Amino acid sequence: MRCIAREWPRKKETHGRESTRHMNPKLDTLFARRSIRTYREGAVDDNTVRDLLEAAMAAPSAAAKDPWEFIVVRDRQMLGRLASGLPNGTMLSTAAVGLVVCGNLHRAHDKQLSYLLQDCSAAIENVLLAASMLGLGACWLGVHPREDRVAHIRSLLGIPEPVIPVSAIAIGWPGELKDSRTRYREEMVHRERW
Ligand SMILES: Cc1cc2nc3c(=O)[nH]c(=O)nc-3n(C[C@H](O)[C@H](O)[C@H](O)COP(=O)(O)O)c2cc1C
Repeated sequence: MRCIAREWPRKKETHGRESTRHMNPKLDTLFARRSIRTYREGAVDDNTVRDLLEAAMAAPSAAAKDPWEFIVVRDRQMLGRLASGLPNGTMLSTAAVGLVVCGNLHRAHDKQLSYLLQDCSAAIENVLLAASMLGLGACWLGVHPREDRVAHIRSLLGIPEPVIPVSAIAIGWPGELKDSRTRYREEMVHRERW
């Protein structure tokens, strides 16, 4: 079951000449990561969640402050309540696991929100890549900086004030297949100077 996503042939989606020119096969695992929003039935075991958390905490972090904190949510009722405050995150109610990624401002480099957000974003991306590599489907659900979403997640999960919920990640066995791709556009690349 775990390997079903790997068995599906993953076509490379094309977005114009430039994007088809490369997509180096050595980076296949990276291009295969897509936002997966529908999930099949099936549990994601604790060892797999541990894999994802180890991937998260392998991310780069400014001055190695590691300001991140993670809340693993499996309770179906709680997943539904969390989803009800995320307008674009209703699929969280159907995920096997929700991972709420938070940052502790007291531990962030220079106690700066920007460092906290950059560090947490690196951790989130690592989780998404690891999930894809393990054949799971996952989707980043935005929380910060929407104040209503931050307040909703904070109150449901009892998150203390210096800790900021940055995102939730819905994780489950994929119920949809998406093509590998890059959204590479040459006009966004500046060489030597603007
Ligand atoms: C900061 C951020 C917030 C996002 N919030 C949501 C969200 O609330 N709901 C959702 O379905 N996808 C969300 N996404 C996923 C994006 O929609 C998705 O990454 C984008 O459409 C590109 O598609 P891909 O991930 O399949 O490459 C978010 C992504 C980021 C980086």
